Amino acid sequence: MANPTHPDFLPTGHPTAVSRYRFGFRKPEERLGLGVIGLHEGHTALVAMRTSGLCRAVAGCDLSQEKRDAAVSAAPGIFVTDDYDAMLARNDVHIIGIYTPDTFHAEHIIRAFEAGKHVVCTKPVLNDPSQAAAVRDAGRKANRRLQVGQSTRFYEPFQRQRELFEAGAFGDVEVFDAHYNHRMDWYYEKSPWVVDGTHWAYLGLSHPVDLIRWYLGPIREVHAYGMTTSLGQRFGLKTPDAITVNLIAENAKVGRVLGNYGFHELPKARALIEGFLMGSEGTSLARYPDLRVTYHDKQGTEIEEDFHHALSGYYFRHELKGMHYGEFCNYYDYFANCILNNKPNSPDLDEGLDTLLTMGAIVQSLETGQPVKVPRDS
Ligand SMILES: NC(=O)c1ccc[n+]([C@@H]2O[C@H](COP(=O)([O-])OP(=O)(O)OC[C@H]3O[C@@H](n4cnc5c(N)ncnc54)[C@H](O)[C@@H]3O)[C@@H](O)[C@H]2O)c1
Repeated sequence: MANPTHPDFLPTGHPTAVSRYRFGFRKPEERLGLGVIGLHEGHTALVAMRTSGLCRAVAGCDLSQEKRDAAVSAAPGIFVTDDYDAMLARNDVHIIGIYTPDTFHAEHIIRAFEAGKHVVCTKPVLNDPSQAAAVRDAGRKANRRLQVGQSTRFYEPFQRQRELFEAGAFGDVEVFDAHYNHRMDWYYEKSPWVVDGTHWAYLGLSHPVDLIRWYLGPIREVHAYGMTTSLGQRFGLKTPDAITVNLIAENAKVGRVLGNYGFHELPKARALIEGFLMGSEGTSLARYPDLRVTYHDKQGTEIEEDFHHALSGYYFRHELKGMHYGEFCNYYDYFANCILNNKPNSPDLDEGLDTLLTMGAIVQSLETGQPVKVPRDS
């Protein structure tokens, strides 16, 4: 329950940061060791361990000396290397966190499984459906788990929306409308691999498509349209960066996804990511990076829970909204709790690969202009 007066919210050294410990607490020396590869977004994961109750930062790997130095400053005492095998060989690393460019995820997951490690892989878990079988086989052979780092799911308003949904506040979900819109010129400049090393149907839509699948279950068919914006064209993009998708689930419920990575101003009334749940007995809107979730009480009065004051320190650590410290800490602790207590985790490898196949069907629909069935064995 997202209630800052609850004893689970314990103060830390940061003036407004709190440690949630909602997934459990162990003494530092008994926590699962985290080794991270890819120390840009992965740097955030190492820092996020400061508020973890179940994991601790022990190692980091990046080809860049500058990134390794920054990681040691942020997490003093950790082992750093540019040699992935050296990190994989360490006994104090129990979980590998993967934050390399999308095209490397398959290789880095398989090598982690072969070294006997559990894996957290950031979204998109892969960006090529043809790699799915090899990754699934490696996970089964090693008998190790994977958690997809779907940060949006683990962000406070989305956790709270889910909690209310599971408590029956909205009845059955019937329609789910999700978007992730974000102007990305800064990202092309920071990470040039984004221009031709991936597709926005994976890199960006992985947030809203995961939300839709979380609520509607496996998706039967998708129909997508897209275009390349003038901003995308300016950076040499050859694939669409503005994409709209209609989705129908195996259970006949419907969803809609929008992702635009080349637009300009974001009106104050809208958020970068929104999850609009329409249920048989009520509706709810969760937002990112605003820390707000909206729903209605039994009389129809609108209620807005705003966690800005209580949780900005936990989610952002400073005034720059949009950092991912809190979500990352949440999903590592959630995953560690599942491992330690032998409980299933979500999204796990199978669910993540099913979402990958849904995104693959979206790419195919963009290319053909036709509705495409999501490939599934049974
Ligand atoms: N909301 C989220 O969860 C979120 C947000 C941003 C990025 N991401 C994901 O994180 C991944 C990385 O994105 P980014 O923005 O940090 O990219 P980036 O280009 O800024 O950083 C990638 C890092 O990986 C390092 N690297 C590349 N190949 C390597 C190798 N073989 N061995 C070791 N290090 C290597 C690079 O030196 C670089 O520091 C992407 O898959 C992206 O989708 C997730």
